[in-house]
Amino acid sequence: MHANHDKSLAMNATKAEHYSQNRSYQQSFAVEVLQQYMKWDGDTVLDAGCGTGEICKYISQQPGVASVVGFDVSSEFVSYSSQYNSSPNVLYHVADVSDVTTFKPEWQDAFSKAVSIFVLQWVHGKAEALKAMHSCLKSRGEILLACVSDESRFYRTWMNMASHPKWKIYLKDFVPNLFPWPSSDLSNGHDNSCLLEECGFEVLSCHVKEHGQSFDSKEQWRETFRAVFPHLRYIPQDKHEEFFDDLFETAKSIRFVSADYKTTGDVLVFHARKL
Ligand SMILES: C[S@@+](CC[C@H](N)C(=O)[O-])C[C@H]1O[C@@H](n2cnc3c(N)ncnc32)[C@H](O)[C@@H]1O
Repeated sequence: MHANHDKSLAMNATKAEHYSQNRSYQQSFAVEVLQQYMKWDGDTVLDAGCGTGEICKYISQQPGVASVVGFDVSSEFVSYSSQYNSSPNVLYHVADVSDVTTFKPEWQDAFSKAVSIFVLQWVHGKAEALKAMHSCLKSRGEILLACVSDESRFYRTWMNMASHPKWKIYLKDFVPNLFPWPSSDLSNGHDNSCLLEECGFEVLSCHVKEHGQSFDSKEQWRETFRAVFPHLRYIPQDKHEEFFDDLFETAKSIRFVSADYKTTGDVLVFHARKL
């Protein structure tokens, strides 16, 4: 099922401009975890799956950051990043995090820190991706990962909509391309990851972070979800509003969203160090 998965379409439910304008949840989450875990000290930073570049730009402006390299599998997102989130100390490239052969040779052992925020759930080859990021870090280099798990409210809502009785008829050709972090990987009362250890990392912390975000209007909430629900590519335009109503009810039933559109996700956050 995964063999034909087109990585350039990973997540890419909408255009770069639309994603950039509807990623306030991702940005507020990223800023919170970066402030919590990353102490910058003359760092060279790699952002794997940089999307439209806002996180790279934010990191590049932090005192103690020397330079940032951001890469993404989507050439459209990388062009957008270069155009709208450029900075003298940021470079953007197209590369696939799970295929080290797409990486620049000069990235090997080059970075003191790496981040990857809301990316690995779109990546089937997690071990390959972790090993590839590992190879870019200097010895003792740190990594910060945020990824949804198979127990998360986002994943449950996303999958429920993929098999929803009313919408299934339109989704016959939709190959679900979301690969959440398997909760079976988390050992020791969920505060360690076997996969990270197997890929050469020492796990410094691993936990599920609850993060809430209010939206000013139904439209804002809808566009945020449109950006990460590729299902909509298969649903006729005149039925989108109805699809969002069902999505809202599904999310509300598991307390992912409240009646006033406040959305509270539960996201796995890993902080680890290259051994
Ligand atoms: C939800 S967006 C997150 C982007 C950014 N980190 C942010 O928080 O706004 C997921 C990103 O992962 C990228 N992506 C998916 N699969 C990838 C892969 N195999 N290699 C690199 N990037 C990938 C997508 O193109 C998309 O830009």
